[in-house]
Amino acid sequence: RRVGVVMGGSSGEREVSLRSGAAIAEALESRGHDVVRITLGDDLGPELLSTLRRSRVEVAFLALHGRLGEDGCVQGLLELARIPYTGSSVLTSALAMDKLKAKEMFRLHNVPTPPYYTVHAADDRSDVASMHGSFGFPVIVKPRGEGSSLGLTKVASFEELVPALEKAFEFDDAAIVERFVSGMEVNVGILDGKVLGAIEIAPKNGIYDYEAKYTPGMTEYFMPARLSPARYRGVLNLAERAARALGCSGAARVDLLVTSGENEYVLEVNTLPGMTQTSLLPKIAASAGLDFGTLCESILESARL
Ligand code: DAL
Ligand code: MG
Repeated sequence: RRVGVVMGGSSGEREVSLRSGAAIAEALESRGHDVVRITLGDDLGPELLSTLRRSRVEVAFLALHGRLGEDGCVQGLLELARIPYTGSSVLTSALAMDKLKAKEMFRLHNVPTPPYYTVHAADDRSDVASMHGSFGFPVIVKPRGEGSSLGLTKVASFEELVPALEKAFEFDDAAIVERFVSGMEVNVGILDGKVLGAIEIAPKNGIYDYEAKYTPGMTEYFMPARLSPARYRGVLNLAERAARALGCSGAARVDLLVTSGENEYVLEVNTLPGMTQTSLLPKIAASAGLDFGTLCESILESARL
């Protein structure tokens, strides 16, 4: 089957997507697949449809991240075009990309997630104080629908809150104010509903932001995460429940926080996890015995309509 590796797009994560896409295309090609690289600009939908038609793509390997690519829109277009694609369905993609809806689903399914409230760009800024009430600090402010920690700020006091909200509103018309949970950040890789393992993330500057994610050397990783065997199993189990709560298929990566006490929290689920040099799903898969090429092959096999 002719594989179209779809990358680029117009989201804030375009650059990350180009790197994911290049790595995937190269890996599939070296395994003998007939690969077409489809690099999209701003005109995502029409470009994608015409390229798919022109190059007779039979299956789409999605390497898009962020809005319009990871949020169900492109998935919907591929459904209409009757072209199988990798990753999660339209509904799951939309739920996972929308941090607010994802949190609502977690709560419905009894998956612990840090407490939060939502502020809309249209809300009066003078109401923020009463919205915050006794919520406390520090908090993490992030746009409702972005990835790679774009537009994310750790806020220590009320004076910093509104500026952090304005920054988040550059990316979306709503922001989540989430209680900062101090603990170990752990990511769990999932493939076709099965957990692959959990990696521990130790950013050298204390916060796992865009820079820490994509600058080699700025973050230390421990695979497997340094947890007791019982706790490690608990984290895998929780990640699996989070992915199931949203209905993930294909590859996914669940991001969690593990406190030094008893608690574990799910931050989010990524339905098109990064596949770059510094990305974590490939590292997790490698330690489960799946090299990058085999991982790409497995994801491709899971493509469906
Ligand atoms: N959103 C980025 C690509 C990730 O989750 O890896
Ligand atoms: Mg993400």
